[in-house]
Amino acid sequence: MIPAGLSETFQRAFNRPPALLARAPGRVNLLGEHVDYNEGLVLPAAIDRAVYLNAAPLDDDCLRLVAIDLDAQVSLRMADLEQKIDASGKPLPSWALYPAGVAWSLRQAGLKVGGMQAAFTSEVPIGAGLSSSAAIEVAFATAWQALGGWQVDPIELALLCQRVENAYVGVSTGLMDQFASICGVEDHALYFDTRSLEWQPAPIPEGLSLVIADSGQRRSLAGSEYNDRRAACEQAVEALRRYLPGIHSLRDVSSTEFAAYSTYLDEIPRKRAEHVIKEIQRVRTALSAMQRGDRQSLGALMYAGHNSLRTLYEVSTPELDTLVELTRKLPGCVGARMTGAGFGGCTINLVETSQAEVFIDGLKRGYLAATGNHAQVYLCRASRGASIE
Ligand code: GLA
Repeated sequence: MIPAGLSETFQRAFNRPPALLARAPGRVNLLGEHVDYNEGLVLPAAIDRAVYLNAAPLDDDCLRLVAIDLDAQVSLRMADLEQKIDASGKPLPSWALYPAGVAWSLRQAGLKVGGMQAAFTSEVPIGAGLSSSAAIEVAFATAWQALGGWQVDPIELALLCQRVENAYVGVSTGLMDQFASICGVEDHALYFDTRSLEWQPAPIPEGLSLVIADSGQRRSLAGSEYNDRRAACEQAVEALRRYLPGIHSLRDVSSTEFAAYSTYLDEIPRKRAEHVIKEIQRVRTALSAMQRGDRQSLGALMYAGHNSLRTLYEVSTPELDTLVELTRKLPGCVGARMTGAGFGGCTINLVETSQAEVFIDGLKRGYLAATGNHAQVYLCRASRGASIE
């Protein structure tokens, strides 16, 4: 929902009304975790929680930003984008790297990116694994696209936003989050092949709701853990190439080949690769389950995916494990798993709509009893991708 008071805040900050309102949703991932940087298959959905951005053009090639939720502002010159400094020469605060990085990336691609005043706010909780940073990038890219009067293919725009993470912020993320925020389809997950860049909507079986449970633990991907996981996958590819010289990524390794050669890998790359190879297969199976409306199989794949992230990829936490375990005794739950990069954040639960309220209540109580902490648990809907409102 468009946050109340957003345009008033813009007006107060800049003494003029905004020229446009851009919206870019966060995402959950139903299956296919940590496979997008291995040319794998993913199954995310854009959610009905978004970043909202009011913007107006400026003639002076400056970017003036107000981050409403942080009560922070910064001004910078487009000429200083490369140095990542503000107008007074100080390093940009970390939150400003995302909008500045978008300007940098779009300009590098030769697109028109003019000066801009912008105020933005996020319904997507920060650092909760629901892609708040991708939503911020996509909101800014969408605003600049509208103000600049240019149009690029949605996947191309997602790639330009991914570059912000990889080359400006310094996190080696894949393409899933930016893709989902741009290409979301109402009531559908998105079956996305991160190698061919082809995708199709995958129907969420009727009568099921998406329930997100936020463990309350926060993390930042800028830490080394995420990049370490990626490095381990690359190490595995490197080692497997001795036996399978044709492979480009873990996507190219079949389960049979992995079974034959995994003993030659060191323990860590072996565990990471096993997760990736089997997770890609799970996504394939999940798509056909969704197309058949087979909720039990879909749910079982989600639980299996969580188990693999816990034991092989080692990105879950005791809190996320507790949230998933609790669902096994609650009514209406078809499947549950951690979602996003992990190290804290949220789980995604596929729940019978008719039992969603009882489920949510039970999960909150169970989590409080088990951990002493409150979990935010809410119903969400798969939504359309970014837009100018
Ligand atoms: C983060 C990254 C994505 C993806 C997930 C894990 O959300 O931004 O590209 O790698 O982690 O699946």
